[in-house]
Amino acid sequence: MGRYSGKKAVVTGGTAGIGLATVKMLLAEGAEVLLTGRGEKALEAARKELGPRAHGVRSDTASLRDIDALAATVQEKLGQVDLVVINAGYTPMKRIGEADEVARAALFLGFEATFTTGAELPVDGGISQL
Ligand SMILES: NC(=O)c1ccc[n+]([C@@H]2O[C@H](COP(=O)([O-])OP(=O)(O)OC[C@H]3O[C@@H](n4cnc5c(N)ncnc54)[C@H](OP(=O)(O)O)[C@@H]3O)[C@@H](O)[C@H]2O)c1
Repeated sequence: MGRYSGKKAVVTGGTAGIGLATVKMLLAEGAEVLLTGRGEKALEAARKELGPRAHGVRSDTASLRDIDALAATVQEKLGQVDLVVINAGYTPMKRIGEADEVARAALFLGFEATFTTGAELPVDGGISQL
């Protein structure tokens, strides 16, 4: 039995690179995974390669309409979710953040977002464990 048997996960940008590697690791450990991407060709290839516990859904992280639709699709296909990996993100700044901006965003996720939503949101680096 894998580490994530019975768990349900969403990975944005899961058709290539780090996202696809994350999806494969989660599947190998027993999870059911809904992954997103924009390109239909890559989604189709992922669906074929990854098998029945993977759900490939076309969704653009930069589109609020797509994000709303994705929430409904996740609800329909997975119901309750145990893990969300925001691998494909979007910044209106159109650039990678400076170190202090990234640190502030991580602190927000580690503390304020958890306070605001009531859900514990662990962040890379274990900030939520501080
Ligand atoms: N590689 C690195 O060294 C590195 C280092 C630090 C941080 N990162 C960050 O880690 C993340 C993944 O990097 P990567 O190198 O694995 O990227 P990648 O190989 O280019 O893969 C990106 C994945 O995200 C999808 N994607 C891109 N834009 C999207 C959007 N707007 N909506 C939904 N899906 C989208 C792509 O599919 P489609 O194009 O078909 O949508 C693809 O599946 C990125 O946020 C990157 O900034 C990477």
